[in-house]
Amino acid sequence: MKVNGKNYTAVWMEKGVVCMIDQRVLPHSFKILRLPSSEDTAEAIRNMTTRGAGSIGAAAGFGAAQAAAEAAKGKSFRSIFSKKMAVLRKTRPTAQDLFHALDRIADVVTPLSDRPEIAVNMARAAAEALSNEYVENGRKISEYGEKLIPKNGVILTHCNAGWLGLQDWGSALAPIYAAHRAGKKIKVLVDETRPRLQGMKLTAWELKQEGVPFEIIPDNAAGHYLKAGDIDLVITGADRIAINGDAANKIGTYEKAACAKLAGVPFYIAAPVTTFDPACKSGKDIPIEERDHDEVLWISGRDRKGKITEITPAPLGVTAKNPAFDVTPASFITSFITNKGVIKPAKIAQFCKKLGN
Ligand code: MRU
Repeated sequence: MKVNGKNYTAVWMEKGVVCMIDQRVLPHSFKILRLPSSEDTAEAIRNMTTRGAGSIGAAAGFGAAQAAAEAAKGKSFRSIFSKKMAVLRKTRPTAQDLFHALDRIADVVTPLSDRPEIAVNMARAAAEALSNEYVENGRKISEYGEKLIPKNGVILTHCNAGWLGLQDWGSALAPIYAAHRAGKKIKVLVDETRPRLQGMKLTAWELKQEGVPFEIIPDNAAGHYLKAGDIDLVITGADRIAINGDAANKIGTYEKAACAKLAGVPFYIAAPVTTFDPACKSGKDIPIEERDHDEVLWISGRDRKGKITEITPAPLGVTAKNPAFDVTPASFITSFITNKGVIKPAKIAQFCKKLGN
């Protein structure tokens, strides 16, 4: 996607340095961070400089390529590589694409442990290929999903599942971009998405850049609009999908899906098939990341004079809970919009078998 007339993906690699758009400072500044080591890349994934399933996957792939290059400079390639990979693996526990990416690069590197130079080149090529795959997957999701969007319609989305979260195009936002480009008269209702406000900060920024009509709504207003019949369909992304069709996504998604079910509004989850986890039989097997309570208690933004600042509305000294994701049961999900087509939740197990996942 273009920012100020220049094409970007969320994450990329230049001469061994991982570069990423700093999503923590959007929408008020546009900054590129350059990360010279696999530890730096791991920290940027952990602290959400880059976030969203696909961009986490792409960053992890590049981080693993850095880990191979660092291991090649040491005495024992195999043990250094596996220690650095363990650091990357610990960054975001729910995001299936993180593990998918690390496993993909490890599968290339491990058999070449006795030939580090070749391993390093192969790891870089595999990470690059994975990143390009995310871009292509987003484009395919846009094509399949666009057909589900009416000529005139209001779409609700939660969190940010746009191009910042999937390298390019996005997952939930990809069909919306395609519908807008096809001339459909759509409007998006954007949940603010507490506590990190990915909806209000990132989705709103992306839609504004692309000229898609939208309005931000408070997180607790979606049920009201769904019940009133003001929303035609809901599309969100996912961070991990179990084979029974239960899906983990940003905290608050479950409530929106429950309200959509009650109101008879279709609820779609858009995600590349790399987000399916064949090791999870149901949502109960998906680990839910708990993050620091400061993310709930402190809010960053721009004050009316234009200064970026942090404030807390809470009494000092209180504690808060901060689960980053929740699980929406398969029975609330109309279909998954994937890069391989639109799939009913009941068909996921069969589909994963076919993919050899
Ligand atoms: O915690 P984050 O910002 O990495 O959360 C991931 C997400 O962006 C969402 O849950 C999203 O809807 C699916 S991933 C594009």
